[in-house]
Amino acid sequence: MLNFEFTLPTKFLFGRGTESLAGQELKAVGGTRALIHYGGGSAVRSGLLDRVTKSLDEAGVEYVLLGGAVPNPRDSKVYEGIALVRKEKCDCILAVGGGSAIDSAKAIAHGSVYDGDFWDLWSGKAPVTKTLPLGCVLTLSATGSESSNSSVIMQEKTKLKRGLNTPLNRPLFAIMNPELTFTLPPYQVACGATDIMAHIMERYFTNEKEVAVTDHLCEALLKTVIQFAPIAYKDPTNYDAQAQLMWTGTLAHNNTCGVGREGDWASHQIEHELSAMYDVAHGAGLAVVFPAWMRYNLDHDVNRFAQFAVNVYGVEMNFDNPRETALRGIERHEAFLKSIGMPLTFKELGAKTEDIPAMAKNVKRGPDGKTGQFVKLDTKEIEEIFRIADR
Ligand code: NZQ
Ligand code: ZN
Repeated sequence: MLNFEFTLPTKFLFGRGTESLAGQELKAVGGTRALIHYGGGSAVRSGLLDRVTKSLDEAGVEYVLLGGAVPNPRDSKVYEGIALVRKEKCDCILAVGGGSAIDSAKAIAHGSVYDGDFWDLWSGKAPVTKTLPLGCVLTLSATGSESSNSSVIMQEKTKLKRGLNTPLNRPLFAIMNPELTFTLPPYQVACGATDIMAHIMERYFTNEKEVAVTDHLCEALLKTVIQFAPIAYKDPTNYDAQAQLMWTGTLAHNNTCGVGREGDWASHQIEHELSAMYDVAHGAGLAVVFPAWMRYNLDHDVNRFAQFAVNVYGVEMNFDNPRETALRGIERHEAFLKSIGMPLTFKELGAKTEDIPAMAKNVKRGPDGKTGQFVKLDTKEIEEIFRIADR
């Protein structure tokens, strides 16, 4: 196991009615005037925004509203938010929504106290050294942004979708009421479940040895998604299923199950090109990319893929042919994704063969020019993964 440091500043308020605590929690982190940032309108239609603003009124916290964070959130909305925070002299931010609203809010929080173009922070030109206090009210179990150290923003003019990791991305509090997910379309529930699984699997496929504790945590979380996602997909108003998914989504990406090991993350970097190019849901893009990535990299560590097959999907171990066991695991994973309505191919996603070279070229690289850690991929190899999915 690798050495690690792990600090999690996020306070979680989980369960029915917890959105009524938003005001008092903002006050507790020193907020007096908040920017409330939300998405395209689901929070308005469900009445959630009214309940949240009432809670701020009761706590004596003033606010201004900024809707319009879209899936695959854009830099233009971040610039708008930064200008509004400065004009209105807001001293804290409350995100209400899914990963897109939360990520956009994180960018506004950093950008409004940065003396320069906020994109400097996302492009790696400057580090994040300060931010505004930020909390969130989560409405979709998926990205883990409610306590992750990440935020992913798309620069419209270049169509580059870039993630920024910094401890300052972790919200100070996360309000998590599973009832708030009841209005989700089943497709979004499935996209969320796929993203949750991907966050665990990015960590699971590691070259690090002696990581039993985090392996076992990963396997338990994956099995929880496999058990409860089909229930929530069929009936998004099933509280118990949504509650399991919600907490699993948080544990999947706040690094509880990633400490002491190196994750891969190539599938995420590759997927970001799909969602930037076609504006598809991140989870749907992952359903297409991850199984292709697994097939391409199977022989890098057959035993790890076989362990996944046996411990996550209950495949019987073929000791004479572990590769066969490993392949069964990938097939089971594909079948699971299909059973919850996810696309598995370029065609089902609406992606095009002719875009493969451009997308492969744009994938974010490390300093060595490669993507991924479990297996380091160059442009040609990324193209090959896209081509496995292009069937
Ligand atoms: O905008 P509204 O009207 O709210 O509609 C949203 C949106 O259309 C809707 N929705 C959300 N909650 C709802 C609801 N509809 C009805 N009832 C509710 N309770 O769902 C749609 C998708 O929302 P979005 O926030 O885009 O989804 P998600 O949470 O999956 O976020 C995706 C974004 O997060 C990034 C992705 O790349 C993508 O840009 N990621 C962020 C990460 C992080 N910060 O740690 C990690 C992830 O790997 C990911 O890259
Ligand atoms: Zn993700």
